[in-house]
Amino acid sequence: MGGPAPAVPAPDATCTLLPLTSFPKNKIKVLLLENISHTAIELFESECFQIETAPGALTEQELAEKLKDVHVLGIRSKMHVTEEALKAARRLLAIGCFCIGTNQVDLEAANRRGVPVFNAPFSNTRSVAELVIGEVIALARQLGDRSGELHRGTWKKVAKGCYEIRGKTLGIVGYGHIGSQVGVLAEMLGMKVVFFDIATKMPMGNNSAVATLEELLQASEFVTLHVPLSDATTRMISVEQLKHMKKGSYLINASRGSVVDLAALADALREGHVAGAAVDVYPTEPEKNSDGFTTELQGLPNVILTPHIGGSTEEAQAAIGREVATSLIKFVNRGTSAGAVNFPQLDFPQDSKSHRILNVHQNVPGVLRNVNSIISDLDVNIKAQMNMTDSNIGYLVMDLDKAVSHEVEAALRELPTSIKTRILY
Ligand SMILES: NC(=O)c1ccc[n+]([C@@H]2O[C@H](COP(=O)([O-])OP(=O)(O)OC[C@H]3O[C@@H](n4cnc5c(N)ncnc54)[C@H](O)[C@@H]3O)[C@@H](O)[C@H]2O)c1
Repeated sequence: MGGPAPAVPAPDATCTLLPLTSFPKNKIKVLLLENISHTAIELFESECFQIETAPGALTEQELAEKLKDVHVLGIRSKMHVTEEALKAARRLLAIGCFCIGTNQVDLEAANRRGVPVFNAPFSNTRSVAELVIGEVIALARQLGDRSGELHRGTWKKVAKGCYEIRGKTLGIVGYGHIGSQVGVLAEMLGMKVVFFDIATKMPMGNNSAVATLEELLQASEFVTLHVPLSDATTRMISVEQLKHMKKGSYLINASRGSVVDLAALADALREGHVAGAAVDVYPTEPEKNSDGFTTELQGLPNVILTPHIGGSTEEAQAAIGREVATSLIKFVNRGTSAGAVNFPQLDFPQDSKSHRILNVHQNVPGVLRNVNSIISDLDVNIKAQMNMTDSNIGYLVMDLDKAVSHEVEAALRELPTSIKTRILY
């Protein structure tokens, strides 16, 4: 557990002339744990927020203590944010997970306290796509085996069973953010690209859709999987599907481990029906680098095993830093919750001539009636009003006349159904 490092000082020259805002920007405290990318720190600095950083995760008690006066919390995957820690976080506005997953945060507890949680699900798309393209060539040329042999002192110069990828067919299962990028890159290398997706997708370049998974498996020399994990995709590649693959074809999985039945794949590799596989994800993965790891695929020829590194590049970390910091800043400055994983999503432009009030409330009948009676009693002119709910809470954003906004805010705070109320200008 790394203790908090000293606060990063806000750059005074740019922050002394801040415009008058509802809450002084240089009093907004941001706590960033687990070595979050410098791209995020720079964005928070440019807003003149106060920043405190720490290299590691904290204990629950340490976090609870810190959260007493923190407005924005940034974490990566190791810091667990529990309900107990959130109880102390009376000023907390939002949490940013500077990673893909969000299950390290008690999302429900954060939701009930009116705290949105943001992440960056697509910032590492390009990194995964590039790894897959590298693996297509590596499998076709048996690079993993040749490299291993030479490391062990064996010179084995062979051409048999080694191929160019030009003119070969790549079948992409799941043509979303990653799958479609792989399709673009593969076509640039002279491959023919077909894809199968349950949703109708616009093909990139000369990529073309096929109607069934079976059709894709029968047509492809290389099959790469880019689906999310769901009931429909769990073991979607098993004994039957492997039989449908061409003899001597290759399988790549950088999606989720349980999408492939690894025992069936190991059999297909041993029989020589599948000529090679590259696997980045596994049904169960170690929590720490120091934990041991075993899989049915170890020791099989032309099998490249990587430890879930598809999205692990410096560029992806920087992009994650930018994306999550931008979401947090937009929420602090404008109340935009688009992209939050546990919170009603609202985003609409603010008129500079009005004040904006944000109200998170319990989702129970009568809330809007009470809000609107406050508005009509004060004879307020509403310029814009939007409310979005989920099963626990509602999120109301209103743009109002400047003259009465503070009275409205104070009255909204008093409503027994209100969880959090803020005014922005
Ligand atoms: N290896 C890594 O480090 C790494 C990094 C990032 C993402 N991922 C994984 O890659 C996968 C794809 O990510 P993405 O960002 O492209 O997701 P995405 O949501 O953009 O795309 C997924 C696509 O799969 C399609 N799909 C869903 N169910 C399907 C089914 N049953 N049959 C066919 N198509 C189906 C969807 O319609 C969608 O087009 C996810 O599983 C994600 O967790 C892995």
